[in-house]
Amino acid sequence: MKRINVAIDGPSGAGKSSLARYAAGVLGYIYVDTGALYRAVGLAAHRRGISKEDTQGIIGMLDDITVGFESSPEGQRTVLCGEDVSELIRNETVSMYASAVSAIPKVRQFLLDTQRRIAAEADVIMDGRDIATVVLPNADVKIFLTASVEDRAMRRYLQSGGEVDLETLTELIKQRDKQDSEREIAPLRRHEDAILLDTTGNTLEQSRELLVNTIKERIGK
Ligand code: DC
Repeated sequence: MKRINVAIDGPSGAGKSSLARYAAGVLGYIYVDTGALYRAVGLAAHRRGISKEDTQGIIGMLDDITVGFESSPEGQRTVLCGEDVSELIRNETVSMYASAVSAIPKVRQFLLDTQRRIAAEADVIMDGRDIATVVLPNADVKIFLTASVEDRAMRRYLQSGGEVDLETLTELIKQRDKQDSEREIAPLRRHEDAILLDTTGNTLEQSRELLVNTIKERIGK
């Protein structure tokens, strides 16, 4: 049976994951957060004391690790070598590691099959950076979700409970945007067919409605 695939790409902090999770709940699809896979690889490198710049060290580690998802009543859990790391991957150190490992072609290749397999088996809303451009070029709906740097930094600030100051977060976001969009392999860019959704200044409710309505319109629901 042909599965419905919705691809959502965009920069970090644009609200992709919370909006995509919400839309998946409304539409009865499975939400797949591909950033979590890169974060799990980043965490594995960090734990082994491998530097972010040590490309060969990171590639060498791939043979020794397994990364994937397991479903649970609370939703998707991220599993690294059998361990649930869903919470451990959510901090700024792992964010920077994830961004670094995601620029390595062998790491992207390593995670590609996992992503495509999930999309072939279920109706999914998958979010990431290269879902429309590389992972699911035939997705039924392609969306590029973005917001201003200031809005995105504020969102991260509120999420972190004030753990990191706003100025530092703004700088980290700019740095990560640059890293993610200037890398040679699978850079963050809008697929030419992707619908652009800019959530700058929106309330959560407005953004949710915008995303759900856009998807419904496209799939004719
Ligand atoms: O969405 P996120 O912040 O959890 O993503 C973590 C990092 O992984 C981010 O710096 C970019 C990278 N990433 C990627 O290169 N491709 C994806 N499909 C998803 C994330």
